[in-house]
Amino acid sequence: MANVVVMLGPPGSGKGTQAKRLVDVLGIPHVSSGDLFRHHLSEGTELGRMAQKYMERGELVPDAVTVEMVIDRLRQPDCEEGVVLDGFPRTLTQAEALDEALREQGMAVSVVPLIHVSDEEVIRRITARRVCKDCGAVYNLAFERPEEEGVCDVCGGELYQREDDDQETVRHRLYTYYRETSPLIGYYFAQGLLVEIDGERPMADVQRDLREAVAQVGEPG
Ligand code: AP5
Ligand code: MG
Repeated sequence: MANVVVMLGPPGSGKGTQAKRLVDVLGIPHVSSGDLFRHHLSEGTELGRMAQKYMERGELVPDAVTVEMVIDRLRQPDCEEGVVLDGFPRTLTQAEALDEALREQGMAVSVVPLIHVSDEEVIRRITARRVCKDCGAVYNLAFERPEEEGVCDVCGGELYQREDDDQETVRHRLYTYYRETSPLIGYYFAQGLLVEIDGERPMADVQRDLREAVAQVGEPG
């Protein structure tokens, strides 16, 4: 049975960090809608330019284009064995579109880990985040510093701060999360798919709970 993991949680809760570690053990792709939009932006596509207007304000890109972009990605052959979704779905409309697309492929969401982190911690983490321009590796000036300032440990690329990572935009992203994405908690809870994880612990502890949640999929009781 294909594993379809939906990482849920506020901005900065560690969805990306944890998803990257999880796919290393599961051997399935990590699909991040935010990364897909940022890729379009760096390639200068029309979709990228359109998405940028929403991203820089901390608002959601409209459902229709987001759903099309992510579902196209899910139809690629490397997703047949499963996928770890990060940042998608983010609205009930997106969640229903995902269910339908998976059904057509004979798949279904298997587990929804929800990473809890307080608003204060989100702001602390995000304003200290740095990302590699070349390979996308993620650092944190407070918790996970690169060995050499401004340089990626993995590939030597230049580290930068995401445009939407200033304090004001982060506050708006949090507001958007509570307003538009938090209803998904009830949606997945009702289906028995939600697993709540305390995200305010060392990354390795969060990862251990996440792997446990994924391993228990399909086990009785
Ligand atoms: P997206 O890129 O998805 O951003 P986000 O949801 O706001 O989440 P982040 O990437 O900021 O945080 P994360 O949870 O991945 O945390 P990370 O692991 O990096 O979306 C960006 C924008 O794109 C949206 O605002 C929207 O405009 C658009 N968009 C995307 N998807 C969309 C959709 N489906 N529909 C419509 N629009 C969409 O960790 C954060 C930092 O904390 C890092 O520095 C990390 O090193 C550190 N850290 C992680 N874990 C720990 C820990 N346990 N302890 C200490 N530090 C930690
Ligand atoms: Mg992320």
